[in-house]
Amino acid sequence: MAVHFLVLPLCFLFLGTGTPASSASTTSLTTNTTADGSPARQAAGSGGNVTTFSFTTFHGDLRGVNMTVVGDAAINGGALQITPDSLNDAADFLTNKSGRVLYSAPFRLWRDDKTSGNANKKVASFSAVFTVNVFRAPGTEPAEGFAFLIAPSADKPPPGSYGGFLGLTNASTDGNASNRIVAVELDTEKQPYDPDDNHIGLNVNSVVSVANVSLRPLGIEICPVKTAKYNVWIDYDGAARRIAVYMADVAESKPASPVLASKLDLGATVAESSYFGFSASTGRKYQLNCVLAWNMTVERIPWDVDEPSKTSKGLTLGLVAVGVSVAVLVAAALGCYYLCVVRRRKAKSEEEGSAITGTMIRSLAGGPREFDYRELRKATNNFDERMKLGQGGYGVVYRGVVVDDHNNPSTAGTTVEVAVKKFSRASSQGENDFLSELSIINRLRHKHLVRLVGWSHDNGELLLVYEYMPNGSLDQHLFISAPTAGSRPRQPLGWELRYGIVQGVASALHYLHDQYDQRVVHRDLKASNIMLDANFTARLGDFGLARAIETDKTSYMEEVAGGVHGTVGYIAPECFHTEKATRESDVYAFGAVILETVCGRRPRCDIEGFHFLVDWVWRLHRDGRALEAVDPNLDGAFDEDDAERLLMLGLACSHPTPAERPKAQAISQILMRSMPVPAVPPFKPSFVWPAIDGGFDTMSTAAGTGTMSSLVTSSSTWSGNFARGSQSHAPAPEQDTSGSLV
Ligand SMILES: *[C@@H]1O[C@H](CO)[C@@H](O)[C@H](O)[C@H]1NC(C)=O
Ligand SMILES: *[C@@H]1O[C@H](CO)[C@@H](O)[C@H](O)[C@H]1NC(C)=O
Ligand SMILES: *[C@@H]1O[C@H](CO)[C@@H](O)[C@H](O)[C@H]1NC(C)=O
Ligand SMILES: *[C@@H]1O[C@H](CO)[C@@H](O)[C@H](O)[C@H]1NC(C)=O
Ligand SMILES: *[C@@H]1O[C@H](CO)[C@@H](O)[C@H](O)[C@H]1NC(C)=O
Ligand SMILES: *[C@@H]1O[C@H](CO)[C@@H](O)[C@H](O)[C@H]1NC(C)=O
Ligand SMILES: *[C@@H]1O[C@H](CO)[C@@H](O)[C@H](O)[C@H]1NC(C)=O
Ligand SMILES: *[C@@H]1O[C@H](CO)[C@@H](O)[C@H](O)[C@H]1NC(C)=O
Repeated sequence: MAVHFLVLPLCFLFLGTGTPASSASTTSLTTNTTADGSPARQAAGSGGNVTTFSFTTFHGDLRGVNMTVVGDAAINGGALQITPDSLNDAADFLTNKSGRVLYSAPFRLWRDDKTSGNANKKVASFSAVFTVNVFRAPGTEPAEGFAFLIAPSADKPPPGSYGGFLGLTNASTDGNASNRIVAVELDTEKQPYDPDDNHIGLNVNSVVSVANVSLRPLGIEICPVKTAKYNVWIDYDGAARRIAVYMADVAESKPASPVLASKLDLGATVAESSYFGFSASTGRKYQLNCVLAWNMTVERIPWDVDEPSKTSKGLTLGLVAVGVSVAVLVAAALGCYYLCVVRRRKAKSEEEGSAITGTMIRSLAGGPREFDYRELRKATNNFDERMKLGQGGYGVVYRGVVVDDHNNPSTAGTTVEVAVKKFSRASSQGENDFLSELSIINRLRHKHLVRLVGWSHDNGELLLVYEYMPNGSLDQHLFISAPTAGSRPRQPLGWELRYGIVQGVASALHYLHDQYDQRVVHRDLKASNIMLDANFTARLGDFGLARAIETDKTSYMEEVAGGVHGTVGYIAPECFHTEKATRESDVYAFGAVILETVCGRRPRCDIEGFHFLVDWVWRLHRDGRALEAVDPNLDGAFDEDDAERLLMLGLACSHPTPAERPKAQAISQILMRSMPVPAVPPFKPSFVWPAIDGGFDTMSTAAGTGTMSSLVTSSSTWSGNFARGSQSHAPAPEQDTSGSLV
């Protein structure tokens, strides 16, 4: 269901992106280690056999088969949740937890050479890479920490191992050599023995690290307010008895030098037969500890034939054993694939994104008209302040008058009013905004989309020319008390107009999402981007954030980690995790638009103790009083059935689980009254991330129990947290003056 959210852009384990360090790591089972801990390459083939496994995502079927999930851990929505991710009442569900997830088969990590003592013990090398996402609710502080673990058993974490014990030890066992554990911790809570609350540490039998390094100087924050996914590489050289840990943003390749490098003799610490996995804990404060992918290669030390096989189970568990030379071949193949396919694809998209020049735009068939910069300057009275219609994140919009297209004889010579959008950022960023907007909107044709009339791209100045919308944007009519630019007193929008506007936007959304040859997500749907023409027909505008997504993909991943785009109250909760705009997140924003159109209130508003309009409406719905939410300015002049329909549709679109939101096509049919509104549960379901498969079932069974009132409280608290934490992501609606494209 919602698992596609976790399709991850990981680098290939075996893929040297050209740097010796990363290619060496792939065959590091037989590598030597230099003094600084970075492995150096050695001739392949000298080392013998390895066991590898690779999980690019996790699903529930792995539980008990490939993964042992113990303590408070779970597998949910594509990820290992080492501690719970449920957003039910934090005090009961998220604090003081500890969990572990271990690969279900143990590995033999050393062999005692009985004739010559410990120094000649054969110790297995391994290399691991995993993608970790440690998430905190905005406005909260993270704690306690997460660790990669080597343990003697797949048992659950010891009792009392929550809080600072990271699921590794507890107050009575910490430091005891009989624990036989080694861990690499990513610690987000400073204990008296820690350097800070953002460090990596090497733990041997104790949460007091034998080596620790703050990540701050490297610019890595384990658990920032925004979503962060990191790759962590752990290379262990059994011959040299050295461990090296590397860490980088998931989009980056393996760094040349390790964050932490240390001597470590696994032969003297861990059990001969040990398990690999993850451990994490929360304390009074909490974070969500997720592993999104995990690859591992372990040098194989076979149990001798005469020895009782302690681990034969592990070796028959469907593991692929490949010699190092095979690994090299695989590396070569994958590298070739990358070079030949991925790079080309990337190059292609970069080309599409930024290399479109004026010449190329000119060559677009049936493209919009190219204006001379001077003509537009004249049209807007030299970009006069008084001609300003609005301002958005991407530029200022001016009103202007131009002579109609001379290519069209029937209208030649007449003048038309236009809205001229002048991009503020002269940088290449501005150029990219311009080009993405132009290349998308140029090809879109729909009666509920604002039409692009023309463009200008003279000496670095970027301008787009749209039809002028005499009635401004929807928000200017809904929130009459709000001061608007050059405001004249306005009548509240009548009910029929409101219904028609919602219908118009829905039909534009259906076109963008399903009917256009390339799927387009708008990404910034909100009342100030819904323009009204002379007849108060809705025209969706501002495609500054719109992006086309390929039809065979379900979502578009931001290439630049720029945080969440959009405006508070319109942003779907999952976007704070995924930073991805999808059709589902467009539908979420549309739900907010419906509710504000019906209620005459902004999505983010404080009302009767709620911080968001949707929470308030949901409460009224539970109490069977939904119609009380309708805008009092309408003086009761509305159709009750239709109002109920819109309110329920607005709530359905606001479902916290993306997959449960209706699709644009269904929305259009519901608004045409040819399909019933989906049943809306009396309580707002809690937000769970990553979304649990079959979230709706979970929710409807829970709806019958008596614990639901706490869910309502916690979900509105949750939204509140998002609101507070979101200031850095997006402008608050109060500051949003983008009545652009008017
Ligand atoms: C893990 O291995 C898979 C192939 O088995 C590969 O696609 C993926 O990129 C690897 N992940 C990392 C982080 O190297
Ligand atoms: C590793 O390299 C060092 C010097 O670079 C050398 O002295 C040592 O013998 C090498 N060890 C192995 C196991 O090859
Ligand atoms: C790899 O393992 C197989 C069977 O376990 C064995 O026959 C072979 O000799 C091993 N190769 C090396 C290089 O150790
Ligand atoms: C998980 O275990 C099953 C059954 O042993 C095996 O077929 C499958 O390949 C394993 N998956 C991975 C990714 O190791
Ligand atoms: C969590 O543990 C701490 C210390 O052990 C305790 O003070 C606190 O009350 C616990 N919190 C919950 C919700 O159990
Ligand atoms: C620590 O864990 C051990 C079992 O591993 C248990 O016997 C002991 O009671 C625990 N101590 C505390 C303080 O919880
Ligand atoms: C370490 O643990 C073992 C086994 O649980 C126990 O017998 C021993 O007394 C412990 N040592 C210390 C110093 O606590
Ligand atoms: C941990 O970090 C602190 C502060 O940087 C340092 O003083 C301490 O020596 C470190 N501990 C270890 C074991 O490296």
